[in-house]
Amino acid sequence: MSRSLLKWYDRSNRDMPWRRNPLPWWVWVSEIMLQQTRVDSVIGYFNRFIERYPSPQSLAESSLDELMGYWAGLGYYARARNLHKAANQVVDLHGGRVPNDPEKFRALAGVGRYTCAAVQSIAFGEPMAVLDGNVIRVLSRLERIDKNPKLATVKDQFWTLADALLDHERAGDFNQAMMELGATVCTPKKPKCLLCPLMDMCRARQEIDPETLPIRVPKKKRPVIQMVAGLSTAEDDSIWLVRRPEKGLLGGLWSLPMVQGDTHDALETLNLNPQDACQTVRHGFTHQIWDISTYPCEGKPICANFDEVRAFKVSEIKTLGLGGPSLKALRVCGIDLPRRRGAG
Ligand code: ADE
Repeated sequence: MSRSLLKWYDRSNRDMPWRRNPLPWWVWVSEIMLQQTRVDSVIGYFNRFIERYPSPQSLAESSLDELMGYWAGLGYYARARNLHKAANQVVDLHGGRVPNDPEKFRALAGVGRYTCAAVQSIAFGEPMAVLDGNVIRVLSRLERIDKNPKLATVKDQFWTLADALLDHERAGDFNQAMMELGATVCTPKKPKCLLCPLMDMCRARQEIDPETLPIRVPKKKRPVIQMVAGLSTAEDDSIWLVRRPEKGLLGGLWSLPMVQGDTHDALETLNLNPQDACQTVRHGFTHQIWDISTYPCEGKPICANFDEVRAFKVSEIKTLGLGGPSLKALRVCGIDLPRRRGAG
């Protein structure tokens, strides 16, 4: 199985900056960015990030604010905060070098089983298998596993299977090949079985319609939450922003002053006038949807929920780490901000 897979990978792997030069730091950054985000969206962010932060030390010396500017638009900002923390740990505990030791690496902030196996195998050749959504799909079809991979016990079985199939001589390539096969050939819909190097050994291909695996358990509907935001412009056209609390959704990011609720209370908190015309926009997170109504308002927003309040020029806002909801709200209000590709 691994011979067929690696032969295919050697022929058809996609060019990615971190593959050309698999420095441990590059591999680590790429694997963090690739969680929840597609390769095409990541490449631009990755190149800008590595140019500014060529080493863990350079990131450790940077402020979280500046880092957020490089991450803004990629979504899932806890990843960036953890990477910043982990870079500091690498400097403090490992002399600035990414540890070639799975146990030490796994102990760093934001490094779970997947990231540990991915970085240690790709950068150092450690024989550790990865498991992500793509690999689960390939394995569930290859072995015709019709159990719910979201269940912890079933997931453990997938990890065991991935470990059993792993090529120990070329662990990094094997892992990347599995993920690549899932992303490009063994796709959720209309898999390209005729191009698959594992076609002859795939049970789903021989016995059923491969599209039916892995089994999907219907997602819960995402609740829709009403939010109100205030857009207050100072005379020099700068805009008042607040910093969101560290903990929670979009934690630590600058944002328009924004609170939950479409009631008079919510409007009053931000000192907004419900008679004014508002602009509405929708932003979807993985687990909830925000319908944001943005009202014009005057002066510095005063709100107990936010301890840092500052006015920024539009040119500054372009480089500030601002979350998706605020970017969208500003855009519907006619403020010209660059569009960023990516999740979140
Ligand atoms: N998805 C996450 N990491 C990947 C990698 N290194 N290659 C291909 N797909 C991936």
